[in-house]
Amino acid sequence: MKKTNTEMFDSISERYDFLNTFLSLGIDRLWRRKYVKMLLNIIKGKTLDVCSGTGDIASRLRKKKLNREFDIITSDLSVKMLTKGKTLGNIIDNAITADAKHLPFKNNSFSCVTIAFGIRNIYNIENFLNEANRVLQKEGHLAILELTMPNNFIMRKLYSLYLSVVVGGLGGILSGNFPAYKYLTSTIKNFMTPKELSQIMKKHKFREIETQRLSFGIAVIIIGKK
Ligand SMILES: C[S@@+](CC[C@H](N)C(=O)[O-])C[C@H]1O[C@@H](n2cnc3c(N)ncnc32)[C@H](O)[C@@H]1O
Repeated sequence: MKKTNTEMFDSISERYDFLNTFLSLGIDRLWRRKYVKMLLNIIKGKTLDVCSGTGDIASRLRKKKLNREFDIITSDLSVKMLTKGKTLGNIIDNAITADAKHLPFKNNSFSCVTIAFGIRNIYNIENFLNEANRVLQKEGHLAILELTMPNNFIMRKLYSLYLSVVVGGLGGILSGNFPAYKYLTSTIKNFMTPKELSQIMKKHKFREIETQRLSFGIAVIIIGKK
């Protein structure tokens, strides 16, 4: 039987963070740092981290908030990813098992919804965008950090090779889970472009959309306002 997305993340939860950093040669940490810096400029109150996984972004936000007042709620469909986040000390409270397409929160609840390396795993992105818009307060922000394919033809070919050999191959060996890392590489290769994602965000009533491509376009930060 084909594994569901959640079973797949459950099965790689133990080694997820180590492999992220190892397979990206630590570059994901630079992207995360930049993303959190941008988040700190837009967070005005309660924040929801969707597809939170092991809570890396929530933990970074908590460490940086200094004496500013804001709560962070972490949510994910994989109980094992959240549990691992608790063991790591990234998630200390407010962890909710929830589908990003059916968020169990009232309308206008959050000043910011963030999703890091999660949106390409959601089967129906439009439902997630509807939900993100619904739970955001007026003028609240949706922030997305995601892996994408570079525009440049040569970079694209090289990155595609790296994804297949290093992430799919080495990730499969080190995690002992080839299907999971094959799946993760295919979601990167087949995901929409930042331009397409911004257009769908506009369709779902986000405005003032800012896009910042990182590291030759292998990652992107997109922020939009409700
Ligand atoms: C690649 S991980 C990213 C984790 C984390 N945000 C990070 O920065 O490393 C993707 C996460 O999205 C979660 N996920 C996938 N589909 C989801 C859905 N429909 N609703 C909620 N979480 C989902 C997975 O369980 C997994 O923990």
